[in-house]
Amino acid sequence: MEIKIAGMNDLEGILALHKRYHVTSISPEDKPDGFVTTNFTQEQLQALIEQERGITIAKDGDTVIAYAMAASWQFWSAWPLFIHMIQKLPEHSFNGQALSVENSYQYGPICVDKLYRSTGVFDAIFYASLASMVHRYPIMITFINKINPRSYAAHTKKVTMDTVCTFQFNNNDYYMLACPTNQKPA
Ligand SMILES: CC(C)(COP(=O)(O)OP(=O)(O)OC[C@H]1O[C@@H](n2cnc3c(N)ncnc32)[C@H](O)[C@@H]1OP(=O)(O)O)[C@@H](O)C(=O)NCCC(=O)NCCS
Repeated sequence: MEIKIAGMNDLEGILALHKRYHVTSISPEDKPDGFVTTNFTQEQLQALIEQERGITIAKDGDTVIAYAMAASWQFWSAWPLFIHMIQKLPEHSFNGQALSVENSYQYGPICVDKLYRSTGVFDAIFYASLASMVHRYPIMITFINKINPRSYAAHTKKVTMDTVCTFQFNNNDYYMLACPTNQKPA
């Protein structure tokens, strides 16, 4: 398995994985193990790859088997959910620092092909994504829908993230979680 920062030539493989586990196209039998909800245009994905250097991928041979997205709040501010999160940031602190768009960034969605779940691929890509941002930001922030218990278990038990708060948006209940970017795998 190879873990790397994605380039534009990885886009097709990323999109295939994204479509398989997106809430609008996931199969009913896969849905209980989690799904992704963020929609991207081609231009947004290109900016995420080229300007933010924000997609970490795991490949098995030529196949993209996992991705983790991460970018500045400025990038994410095109989505209403992230505007809501940006507004909530200053209400909360992490490690003694008030959260802000300057000292934090947003990670997610993350997706692991179901054939590779519970194999350590999740932890590996999580920490690789974190390491890719450590020189830019001290704090990583993410959100998890409360109806995705597998993702919450992965992010609080397999890797170390703390729950900062819960919030509602568009009739959905979410956790907001944070961690320092300079942490290493346990
Ligand atoms: C979320 C995701 C990235 C986690 O990766 P993963 O490889 O499944 O994670 P792991 O299996 O290592 O860890 C998850 C843990 O949750 C446990 N778990 C599984 N189903 C669960 C459930 N319904 N409720 C609570 N815990 C659950 C697992 O047993 C596992 O712990 P264990 O290995 O000690 O048994 C992956 O499941 C995925 O891609 N899901 C679809 C997309 C998604 O939901 N992305 C996150 C939202 S953006």
